[in-house]
Amino acid sequence: MGKNVENQRRPIGIFDSGIGGLTVAKAIKKQLSEEQLIYFGDTAHLPYGDKSTAAIQAYAVKICDLLLKQNCKVILIACNSASAAAYELVREYVGSKAHVLNVIDPVVQYVGQHYQRRTVGLIGTKQTVHSNVYKKKIDDLDCGIHLKSLATPLLAPMIEEGFFSNTISESVIQTYLSDPSLAGIEALILGCTHYPLIKEQIQAFYQGKVEVLDASDLVANYVGHVLQQLNIASDALQGEPHFYVSDYTASFEASTKIFFQQKVTLEHYPLWE
Ligand code: DGL
Repeated sequence: MGKNVENQRRPIGIFDSGIGGLTVAKAIKKQLSEEQLIYFGDTAHLPYGDKSTAAIQAYAVKICDLLLKQNCKVILIACNSASAAAYELVREYVGSKAHVLNVIDPVVQYVGQHYQRRTVGLIGTKQTVHSNVYKKKIDDLDCGIHLKSLATPLLAPMIEEGFFSNTISESVIQTYLSDPSLAGIEALILGCTHYPLIKEQIQAFYQGKVEVLDASDLVANYVGHVLQQLNIASDALQGEPHFYVSDYTASFEASTKIFFQQKVTLEHYPLWE
């Protein structure tokens, strides 16, 4: 990388399979307001949760090409499914051109500090849960945490459709969380960046007996910490965030308001012509 002031003013690239990662982008914008964000939602290939590892890796590499062209100093994979499937590969692909971060490590770090020798639950897409990435990283900490996981593939499409505070979403959430595989947990990791939008319903289900771990703020803290450590945090207000999607529909643009909590204009950028 070049000089530090130049590096400090480079944008942060963030990507997800769709607009779920906007929950993370929002937390980053709030905590690190001087940073410029470039967001890519791969709406043409949504959902990632049901795709093969090889397919997700191919999409991720294409997205990184765009984010590198935009001179991003950091590339944050704001999707658990892509973090599980493509983090190592993307890190290798990007090399020293940018720092690659994922949304799993900060949560694992938090759980390692607060839940030693206790039982923790995880819900996420099939890709995330079946990859066992959380289990491997938590086991590596060697602090006696017992992880109980459940794939909850209906949740992300349900949220994308705007179903998150009605009787249908309530009954889907209740059915999943009552599954015996999650019995006896003391905390629940929301292992998908869509799920912060149903955090309140999940908290209501547990009535305060289980800590519901929303990754967005943990990830924003972690990004801030990495920028400070590398001395590449922005020293002055940069431009407005820019949002790209690989497939544009008016309904996506309307939903971004729910995820980002303010109106967002999406630019269409197909990954393949
Ligand atoms: N936001 C993605 C994640 O965090 C899930 C949505 C999808 O399946 O594409 O895993």
